[in-house]
Amino acid sequence: MCGIVGYIGHRDAYPIIIKGLERLEYRGYDSAGVVLFDGEDSHIAKTKGKVEDLKQKSELTIPLRGKLGLGHTRWATHGIPNDINSHPHYSNSGDLVIIHNGIIENYASIKKELIKRGYSFESDTDTEVLINLIEEVKKKEGVKLGKAVQIALNQVVGAYAIAVFDKNKPDEIVVARLGSPLAIGIGENEYFIASDASPFIEYTNNAIYLEDEEMAIVRIGKEIKMRKIKDDAIAYPNILELQMNLEEIEKGGYDHFMLKEIYEQPRAILDTYRGRLRSDQGIIKMDGIDQNLEKIMNANRIIIVACGTSWHAGLVAEYIFEDLARIPVEVEYASEFRYRNPVITDKDVLIAISQSGETADTLAAIKLAKERGAFVFGVCNVVGSSIARETHAGAYTHAGPEIGVASTKAFTTQITVLTLIALKLAKEKGMLSKSKFHEYLTELEGVPAKVEKSLESNELVEQIAEVYKDAENCLYLGRGYNFPVALEGALKLKEISYIHAEGYPAAEMKHGPIALIDEQMPVVVIATRKGHYEKVVSNIQEIKSRSGKIIAVVTEGDKTVKELADHVVEVPEISESLTPLLTTIPLQLLSYHIAVMRGCNVDQPRNLAKSVTVE
Ligand code: AGP
Repeated sequence: MCGIVGYIGHRDAYPIIIKGLERLEYRGYDSAGVVLFDGEDSHIAKTKGKVEDLKQKSELTIPLRGKLGLGHTRWATHGIPNDINSHPHYSNSGDLVIIHNGIIENYASIKKELIKRGYSFESDTDTEVLINLIEEVKKKEGVKLGKAVQIALNQVVGAYAIAVFDKNKPDEIVVARLGSPLAIGIGENEYFIASDASPFIEYTNNAIYLEDEEMAIVRIGKEIKMRKIKDDAIAYPNILELQMNLEEIEKGGYDHFMLKEIYEQPRAILDTYRGRLRSDQGIIKMDGIDQNLEKIMNANRIIIVACGTSWHAGLVAEYIFEDLARIPVEVEYASEFRYRNPVITDKDVLIAISQSGETADTLAAIKLAKERGAFVFGVCNVVGSSIARETHAGAYTHAGPEIGVASTKAFTTQITVLTLIALKLAKEKGMLSKSKFHEYLTELEGVPAKVEKSLESNELVEQIAEVYKDAENCLYLGRGYNFPVALEGALKLKEISYIHAEGYPAAEMKHGPIALIDEQMPVVVIATRKGHYEKVVSNIQEIKSRSGKIIAVVTEGDKTVKELADHVVEVPEISESLTPLLTTIPLQLLSYHIAVMRGCNVDQPRNLAKSVTVE
């Protein structure tokens, strides 16, 4: 879960590396480093802290010259975040330099062996072990860097995206991947290396995404040479033309990426169904579903695997799939599913949901389900990501880059895609009349405008945030479709404001959580008019009689809850199954404002990273 970036070509590498690291900081931000080769020698600057700290340190300590450079932003796995454990790492001779995203699981035994052979280690990292293993292989076998990397990688167990160069041969960088993403941007007589395409998008739209177990040698003035790490077979580069643009990955006038992404939701949802939802023809067109319709429609059950916010979107989907398409659904944490020997047959369909498409547990769950014969469908945002490539078929969410660590537009666009799939299956299975299906399509087309309307609550929500910003705990309650929204609201608050928060199905309150309620406890209740409304109103009464503070999300025009709650935020009227797309908006805004008021780092909360590529 680190970010790596590299450059070799005719431009100054330093600004490209620094800008690239800033864009990749979402992947990890506890330390950062850069190495530059200035034509004669290489110079490293590295530091605990953010890329901003690295900028200050490198400007003071190293010459910022050079047309070859590597940079790294870290999320610590082996060794605490400090200057020494930051990347890049030199080999013992000082000739080889490496940056690494991933984990070398058998590093301890390799390290022991290398120590016996006279190697010493400065850091506690697995990465320093890897670069010395490469150096040992290079010396012992008398091979070039590329070959040494390949032999060494065949001895390690774990995951990696690496970039390595030898300062005695500064016209090439060797890169390799297994389990962690790595893209190569191809410019005019220059190459870019990065964990995703954002660091090089203003220079080139042409990129290669390495597949697992592939490596490449990028050499100035030469075509890229690619190989399979295991058997040395030639691999053929698949050059893609990227659609991403620079504006999409910059803040565009907002204080934080999270706020920008919250406000992007009307557009993102529209992009998700654009071209798929054709209400004029009364159809939903999704290639990944159309081509596998029989298999998915006749599935014994659908198993949804995901983590975090994506798992919450899966829970919403469970309601909608069962409700509309009448297909049994199980929703599993990918991290549990992969290790619990699940019963899977070839009649099962597994849907994997992931914004990044790189989450290690979700990827492992997919591999397990495939081995056991299930058909696997991916719902991802990042185009060309590992999960998108590992699944049999899939649908992109088209949310655009999500940089804020707290997922917002990923959640609503995942629900949109899953709703489209559920509606399509329901129609194909004859569970929905033509007119009801058409009603849903028209309603879905109205969602972006209703999300826009829900965003108008921003000022009110900010005032509510002011009242509760110092709370120590918070409870979120919802029923039916809005139970997962309660979970998601609680996750948002805890991850960015560090306030302890719990989400519960409202009716579960009386089985325990009600004991927590006193006049200090804010309780966020989703009480929209459709779906168990009266029952939720009773739950609100129960909170009120125990002096809890009630923040209610209600349907426009609601009068009953208004009389009971301390604060009321309205969202437009909509079918029950679509309410999560609206009710989640004030909850995102509430956590955002509270985090800002508490002085928290909204886009990069402590201990977290955007894409969790370690288990
Ligand atoms: C949510 O705000 C978090 N960023 C986190 O829970 C996230 O949803 C989870 O790590 C899964 O990520 P993915 O969607 O990229 O697989």
